[in-house]
Amino acid sequence: MTTRSPHHAVTDAQPLIEVQGVTKRFGGVPSLSDVSLSILPGTVHSLVGENGAGKSTLGKLISGVLIPDEGVIRLDGHPVSLRTPREALSHGIVTIAQELAIVPGLSAAENVFLGVEPRWVWAVKRRELRQRYLELSERLHFNIAPDVVAGSLSIAGQQQVEIMRALARQARLVIMDEPTAALSGAEVEALHEIILSLANEGKSVLLISHFLSEVLELSDSITTLRDGRLVRTVTAAEATESSLIEGMLGRTLESAFPAKRSATSTGEVVLSIKDLVAPKVEGVSFELHAGEILGIAGLVGAGRSELARAIFQDVRRKGGEIRLGGQPLASRSPTVAIERGMVMIPESRKEMGLFVGRSLKENVSISALRSLSRFGWISARREREVVGESMTRVAVKAANTVMPASGLSGGNQQKLLFARTLLCSPKVLIADEPTRGVDVGSKRAIYDLLVEMAATGMGIVVISSELEEVIGLAHRVLVMKGGRIVKELEGEEMNQKTILEAAFAGTLMVEEHQ
Ligand SMILES: Nc1ncnc2c1ncn2[C@@H]1O[C@H](COP(=O)(O)OP(=O)(O)OP(=O)(O)O)[C@@H](O)[C@H]1O
Ligand SMILES: [Mg+2]
Repeated sequence: MTTRSPHHAVTDAQPLIEVQGVTKRFGGVPSLSDVSLSILPGTVHSLVGENGAGKSTLGKLISGVLIPDEGVIRLDGHPVSLRTPREALSHGIVTIAQELAIVPGLSAAENVFLGVEPRWVWAVKRRELRQRYLELSERLHFNIAPDVVAGSLSIAGQQQVEIMRALARQARLVIMDEPTAALSGAEVEALHEIILSLANEGKSVLLISHFLSEVLELSDSITTLRDGRLVRTVTAAEATESSLIEGMLGRTLESAFPAKRSATSTGEVVLSIKDLVAPKVEGVSFELHAGEILGIAGLVGAGRSELARAIFQDVRRKGGEIRLGGQPLASRSPTVAIERGMVMIPESRKEMGLFVGRSLKENVSISALRSLSRFGWISARREREVVGESMTRVAVKAANTVMPASGLSGGNQQKLLFARTLLCSPKVLIADEPTRGVDVGSKRAIYDLLVEMAATGMGIVVISSELEEVIGLAHRVLVMKGGRIVKELEGEEMNQKTILEAAFAGTLMVEEHQ
């Protein structure tokens, strides 16, 4: 565990950044209203709040991505113009955004130093930059070769490139918008170390996170936002997980997970996988029963998402058999899988799940159009009704259903995918990191929904890097490593320790003997 270092904020220090009375509206609707806060040098300042509370918007105002409608931002006590990210960068403000922004065609090293050096310098200093890249990645304990094409990296890998890019600049303030959402275990620990060492070096970090334990562990100050308004700013010592939740939601949350209903491994087999081989999947077999929630755990890179995609026919399988409801799934297209009653909520909503340019309504009803148009035409009213209903059930927070999905906050985009799934009422649901970026209150709503759907006889596969989530929800868990299932755990034997032991089996011993 990372320990908080004693970089106590001196209260009379000159703030690095002062945000004063800032308001930002979209189409007349305020996303932030009259928000003020100060970030002191050498501190970690966190922002917490529900999905859509305005956290990213505030981050974007400070990093020059958005311009406030009202209010001022001061740097070192003087009003400052932050009208573009470049301008913010010239003042030492860098961002690691919620939606990753790497250039997929360039190498990792090129991405890291992009825009820092003029192109001719780049050509001359290639070797030197390579050296700097290696130093940086060593300091961060990252393991990405400088020449690898960034677009071929996993989400976690792409994020690591973004982190290196932020640190390669002479930053005074690093804004991190949900930096650990796509990371797991050791990578999270490494990032925590980085955050603390930045603060120790006198830099400031503005951290946006839904992991309240992380926020409490790392922060000096914590600001809570609700509905675009500032609830309060407190020191981490004054805050607890439940006081933060109360501030975010305006109510308390009894427990994080719904009560477990009894395991139903006696239900009929709805999905059966035999000797499945696909990229990064090395011969996987298991059965999923009606009414069962099956967890899949493992480290980043263990092959969990690849398994999901292979089952859903999103990547070609090289061998093995998939049976849905007893019948072989011969076709190799996701469309047929959907028709046969299997739906996937993918890991990367931006690339695979969501049509960001289309309306919320279209995004939700897209897979269900067939059933909505049973009589040959789609009743607009019926569509509006059912879309509205399912959006309410998963608590998507939006002004209306005709706005483009790009206008939703990150967590609300994730919930939108759930609303779509509800409309399809599938027999098998594969959910890959279903609550990534979702706030604590909405997480509970999604858990309730998964448990409810299972109770109606759906078979559900939940892939998650959050062990608590797997343990809290699943009747049974499969642990993956190196593309294989290395352990199956059930009931009482399912806990953090047993899962981690299986996930790390072999790896730890190797490291210890080095
Ligand atoms: N470009 C945009 N157009 C319209 N509305 C927007 C736009 N960007 C943000 N909003 C709205 O502003 C509000 C705040 O969004 P923001 O992204 O700041 O939330 P957040 O606190 O970061 O949430 P999350 O935890 O889900 O990431 C939301 O209601 C969102 O719909
Ligand atoms: Mg956000």
